[in-house]
Amino acid sequence: MSDMIQASHTEIKIITSAKGGVGKSTVCANLGMALALRGFRVLLIDCDTANRCLDLMLGMEDCAIYGIRDVLADVCPIEKAILSHPQQSNLHLLAGCSADAAWNADLLHALPSLVKSLSEDTSDQRFDYVLIDTPGGMLDVLSTVASCADEALIVSSPQATAIRSAEKTATLLVQQHIEKQRLIVNSFPAGNALFKNPKTASSIGRKLHNKQKKAAIDSLFHVIDTISLTLLGVVPFDETIWDKQNSGILINDPACSSQPFSHAFYNMAARLCHKNVPLFTYDKSDRPQK
Ligand SMILES: Nc1ncnc2c1ncn2[C@@H]1O[C@H](COP(=O)(O)OP(=O)(O)OP(=O)(O)O)[C@@H](O)[C@H]1O
Ligand SMILES: [Mg+2]
Repeated sequence: MSDMIQASHTEIKIITSAKGGVGKSTVCANLGMALALRGFRVLLIDCDTANRCLDLMLGMEDCAIYGIRDVLADVCPIEKAILSHPQQSNLHLLAGCSADAAWNADLLHALPSLVKSLSEDTSDQRFDYVLIDTPGGMLDVLSTVASCADEALIVSSPQATAIRSAEKTATLLVQQHIEKQRLIVNSFPAGNALFKNPKTASSIGRKLHNKQKKAAIDSLFHVIDTISLTLLGVVPFDETIWDKQNSGILINDPACSSQPFSHAFYNMAARLCHKNVPLFTYDKSDRPQK
C-alpha cells in the first residue's frame, strides 16, 4: 500500500527527548522506514553528536564513511554523504559523526541552513520527510537542532523519569517556538496485548484480555495527561528488538513486518499523512507492501 504521491512540501521533524535511552533512535529508524514503505522519499539525519547509531540500526555501518559532521565541515558534499538503504531505496541516511571526529558548536550552527536548503529543494530528488535524531541530555544540541524543525515528536516511555523529561523537553521546545509537538509513547508494557486481536482469544482469555486492557489504557491516559501533548502513537515493548537491532533489522524485514511493534509504526506513518487510524489497529491489510 503506497500513497504514490509526494508530500506538498518537505516536512522536517525532530525525534527528541531530554532523556537518554527512551527509544528516540529506534523510533527515528522505524518511523522513517514506515514512511518510505508508503512511497515517500525520507532522509534520516543522525544528529547524536555523542553516539551515532542510526547507521548500525539500519544495517549500513559498512557504507557510512561520511556523515553530517563531514558535510557541515565541508569535507564532503552532501550528495556523497547521503546513502540509500540497501533494501528500501526511498529511505536515506545522513550518518552521524564518526568516533574519531570531534564536533564543535560552530559546526552545528551550520545545520539550520543545511536543513533549510533541503526543504527548499524543488528537484525530483526532494525529500518528503526529513527526520532528525537527537541526543539525550544534551540540551544545547537539542536547541540548535530544534531550530531546524517544523514539528517535534517527543518520545517517552511510561516511566516517571521519562515522563518528567518529556514534559521538560516540551516546555523547552515551546521556548524555542516549536509549538507543534506530538507524543510517542514507546516501550509500552501492555502494548503487544493491546494490538492483539481479541476475536482470536478464548472467552476466559478475552475477559483477562479486557481487564488487562483497561489497566493498560488507564496507565496510558496517565502518561498523556501528564505530558499534555497530542498522541501520535504507542509502540509496544518488544523484547526481540535488541536482537533485531543488532542485525540492522527494521520493520520491513519479514521477521517483524507482521508484529505489533511494526504495526505501531505503520499506524504512526499513516497519521503523519493525515489519515485517521485507530490507536491499536492491527490489520494485515493496512501493512504497506512496497
Ligand atoms: N519498544 C521497544 N521495546 C523494547 N526495546 C526497545 C524499544 N524501543 C527501544 N528499545 C531498546 O532500548 C534501547 C534504547 O533505544 P534507543 O537507542 O533507540 O534510545 P535513544 O533514546 O535513542 O537513546 P540515546 O538517548 O542513548 O540516544 C535500545 O537497546 C533499544 O533496542
Ligand atoms: Mg539515540
